[in-house]
Amino acid sequence: VSRISYVNGHYVPHAGAMVHIEDRGYQFADGVYEVIHVCDGQLIDAGPHLERLERSLGEIRIAMPMTRRALGVVLTQVIRRNRLSFGSLYLQVTRGVARRDFPFPAHTAPTLAVTAQRMHPYSAAKVAAGVAVITLPDIRWGRCDIKSIGLLAPVLGKQQARASGAFEAWQLDSAGYVTEGTSTNAWIVDRQGTLVTRPADHRILNGVTRLRLMTLAQDMGLAVLERPFTVAEAQSAAEAFLSSTTTYLLPVTRIDGAPVGSGQAGPVALRLREAYDLFVKNSAARALS
Ligand code: PDD
Repeated sequence: VSRISYVNGHYVPHAGAMVHIEDRGYQFADGVYEVIHVCDGQLIDAGPHLERLERSLGEIRIAMPMTRRALGVVLTQVIRRNRLSFGSLYLQVTRGVARRDFPFPAHTAPTLAVTAQRMHPYSAAKVAAGVAVITLPDIRWGRCDIKSIGLLAPVLGKQQARASGAFEAWQLDSAGYVTEGTSTNAWIVDRQGTLVTRPADHRILNGVTRLRLMTLAQDMGLAVLERPFTVAEAQSAAEAFLSSTTTYLLPVTRIDGAPVGSGQAGPVALRLREAYDLFVKNSAARALS
């Protein structure tokens, strides 16, 4: 099948899917986005993702381009038209097209675009191998809780990670605490077996996967503590891992070259990953029945 994307009311061949050069997303990064996972052709955790979209839009005073329900129909159509079984949907809403000027334009409708992307599930071997992260100063703005399309700092950070042979960069606030990865949330497991992750303040994006993992961990009888942690603490923790819609959960085995715990993927991270895999499979099955 050829790729189909959605732009402002139209399903169009991906190669010809266009927005105007004076779209405020293009000129000011004046917009927000979401990435939603698709498994077995079904949206995973669509509710919390659309809720977060609505919150992000509200924070920058862009109207929802349509109701959540109508948006759900568009997303389902994009899945169908692409025959997407396993992958993700990207949706972006900007303040729309207007003559370039900083203040909000008076009568401009928001731009809505949705694209589909196929993915390959991580193999068990890949998960078990874990990933390396480097650390960098967090040079982003003060409202990382808004899922803004202004992603220059994460682009530079991820590039630096990849150039260093690492998978992700953990960003550090001015006091030396880890905020989050460039596109993932950061976690450690302390020596008592407690899961530790930064509270969802303005310095991080409150990950949908993060919230889901918290619930799953509690169901498994694991303690979860929301507090900031330092790099030194992470390097001497029992385990570390990262989470996001597209990675689920990946064990972090090295931080700035230093092994975490045994230097192997930790048992808590692997058990939690298994629980998350099962959650995804079960929600897809539930949606299909
Ligand atoms: N990234 N932190 C940041 C800065 C992110 O951009 C993301 C998501 C997350 C994890 O959130 P969630 O669990 O809701 O995916 C944390 C998406 C996937 C992306 O930019 O591709």
